[in-house]
Amino acid sequence: MTDEAVGEFRNFGAYQLELHLEALGGVLPRLPMTFAALAARAEAALPAELWSYVAGGAGDELTQRANSAAFERWGLVPRMLVGAAERDLSVELFGHRLPSPLFMAPVGVIGLCAQDGHGDLATARAAARTGVPMVASTLTVDPMEQVASEFGGTPGFFQLYVPADRKLAESLVHRAEAAGFRGIVVTLDTWVLGWRPRDLVLGAFPQLRGHCLTNYTGDPVFRSRLAKAPEEDPRAAVLEWAGIFANPLTWDDLPWLRSLTDLPIILKGLCHPEDVRRARDGGVDGIYCSNHGGRQANGGLAALDLLPEVVEAAGELPVLFDSGVRSGADVVKALALGATAVGVGRPYAYGLAVGGEDGIVHVLRSLLAEADLLMAVDGYPTLAALRAEGALRRTG
Ligand code: FNR
Repeated sequence: MTDEAVGEFRNFGAYQLELHLEALGGVLPRLPMTFAALAARAEAALPAELWSYVAGGAGDELTQRANSAAFERWGLVPRMLVGAAERDLSVELFGHRLPSPLFMAPVGVIGLCAQDGHGDLATARAAARTGVPMVASTLTVDPMEQVASEFGGTPGFFQLYVPADRKLAESLVHRAEAAGFRGIVVTLDTWVLGWRPRDLVLGAFPQLRGHCLTNYTGDPVFRSRLAKAPEEDPRAAVLEWAGIFANPLTWDDLPWLRSLTDLPIILKGLCHPEDVRRARDGGVDGIYCSNHGGRQANGGLAALDLLPEVVEAAGELPVLFDSGVRSGADVVKALALGATAVGVGRPYAYGLAVGGEDGIVHVLRSLLAEADLLMAVDGYPTLAALRAEGALRRTG
């Protein structure tokens, strides 16, 4: 983004005054101001199966709870007389200047979370309005080309679930390049679905019901594998998808992945420093530390607790982080622990469910306002200051 465009999104904390001024005019916020209230409203707004799929996690959801709880064990040490009247939250990521380090993590089924069933487009439009990039999932209601056309000046990224059919993988990547995505996020932790009891109770697995498969059913390679067009025989298309979705990749596949594109490749799901070093040696451009929001392995470790070692092993490579971020303070803590950019998943999905495109914009602006004001009050005007020795302290 240009400096001018980045400048337009500055002063995130001003959202607070904007809301107070509206209240003075007699208009109180229509959208929730806390994550708990947001989740409650989203649960009421979504059908039970969809709520289960979005809100739920693996096993007894210990990892999911641990992800958020981990943030409570860190606090920012206040610094006074810094004069942090203006804060600079902008970051450089894969050659793009961004107004803030926040991004929207890929959420397959985000399309379904909107009342009109076009949540992918609403998310892309929210990205355009906030300068907060969207990582679009492989699993969308609307095709990736249409999603990318709504990004405005904000760069977007394509998340790839690498299919077992290599020709299809190539086709998806080349389509993403042609559509104008600025990087490929390869998700490594979902070649098999984690054990999700909540979803089993309700039979909540939207893709098996034919939802969010447009990027496949519209793909020439995928279509060439079918005896009949997906429009004529949707069930056969779903079965073909179920057959090729999973690809248990190994490190031996990394050179092939790397060869598919000149776009930046970011590996999502890396939590062990040794894996980070191998990824770096394999020529990837970014590391994405995440445990899929506790949806995949219920191993019990919070992603945040693994972040510092990942950052150290990543060296010069940017580290994207998500899992458990629920507030602006959480964003700041992840940045202080070394993340280059911080993602949210469920928070913006809930915002969409509750308030459509405006709901996402509200969630993102609230996160950024809180982060900005925390940095102001505690005297950390820049991300570099946040990362300086002594800014963060363990609370227990
Ligand atoms: C996800 N996530 C995900 N990740 C991915 O790489 N591709 C995908 O299609 C999806 N789909 C998806 C659906 C739903 C409903 C959720 C909630 C999450 C994981 C996502 O990118 C991210 O890692 C987590 O959501 C981050 O955790 P929080 O912010 O939800 O705690």
